[in-house]
Amino acid sequence: MTTEKILKKAVSEHNLTFDEVVVLLKSEDDALFKAADKVREKFKGQEVHLRGLIEFTNICKSSCKYCGLRSENKKIERYRLKSDEIIALANHGAQMGYKTIVLQGGEDVFYKADLICEIIIGIKKNDLALTLSLGERSYEDYKLFREAGADRYLIRIETTDKALYSELHPNMSFENRLRCLKDLKSLGYETGSGCLVGLPNQTVEMLAKDILFFKENNFDMIGIGPFIPHPNTPLKDYTPWTDNFKMSLKVMAITRLLLPDINIPATTAMETLNPNGRIIALQSGANVVMPNITSTEYRPKYEIYPNKICLNDTSDKCRECITKKIESIGRTVSKGYGFRK
Ligand code: 5AD
Ligand code: FES
Repeated sequence: MTTEKILKKAVSEHNLTFDEVVVLLKSEDDALFKAADKVREKFKGQEVHLRGLIEFTNICKSSCKYCGLRSENKKIERYRLKSDEIIALANHGAQMGYKTIVLQGGEDVFYKADLICEIIIGIKKNDLALTLSLGERSYEDYKLFREAGADRYLIRIETTDKALYSELHPNMSFENRLRCLKDLKSLGYETGSGCLVGLPNQTVEMLAKDILFFKENNFDMIGIGPFIPHPNTPLKDYTPWTDNFKMSLKVMAITRLLLPDINIPATTAMETLNPNGRIIALQSGANVVMPNITSTEYRPKYEIYPNKICLNDTSDKCRECITKKIESIGRTVSKGYGFRK
């Protein structure tokens, strides 16, 4: 089938075969982005949902080979915010108009379930939806977080290729990652996943499988970002695909075609590779942006990958900046919580 026919099918049926997804990933036809933008407009409208992101700890017990926060990286200064500091940041986020707060951190065992629950309860005193992104935890922890009031949880599968997954995640298991996603869904969280694009030995076929995995599991949110090598990790010398921004954008756009009503962020990593990355993503299927509301003091320390944007900006500045950008393309900032349905 030609790209044109495949796009027609995707737009009307929201279903594609593996081979069809591969054709789209290999195609250089910008019609893909236009199609994804149309599907976004039809199912999600012109509203962009902003989620205020708090990076509350950069301490991590894991050693993902691509990530700057990995435990073996001794070159970063580690920090851990206290519960009242985190709640104060969330309160400020609510005052700025955020309707969702995302609490993201490394896999930091210091924050036992009780402490996380205390933070959740504090944040939820505001009129807000709360998303957690704390990595792999037990079913019991996820249940306690949900009962304390958490609404959503993000945990990317990173790659669905088992061999690649094992290679990149020493001492972790793909099965446990899947278990987390299953537990979160069964507990009634709006569940988000996603993948990295441009990893060493990753192929277009693997990315096609990632996309079909998102579809099969009907996740509520999918975050896709380009892999950006970090100098203090084992992958420091690896060079991803020449146009990894474009490849990430393709994965995102196809995801929109197959899952027309989900929430898809224009990711910060995309903006790191392209100064207009988030706006381009918003015009290629995305409907969410996650501006940072962490204090400027801590931002440079949360270095998952190098050259992250907005490191010297304040949360007020980021909110204003992104609002202007969104309005400049004829879209509006939503005043709602932005649940999937
Ligand atoms: N480049 C881009 N994204 C990265 N992440 C981790 N390390 C990198 C990197 N070097 C992403 C992972 C993780 C999310 C919080 O950040 O996909 O799920
Ligand atoms: Fe932070 Fe633009 S979003 S300065």
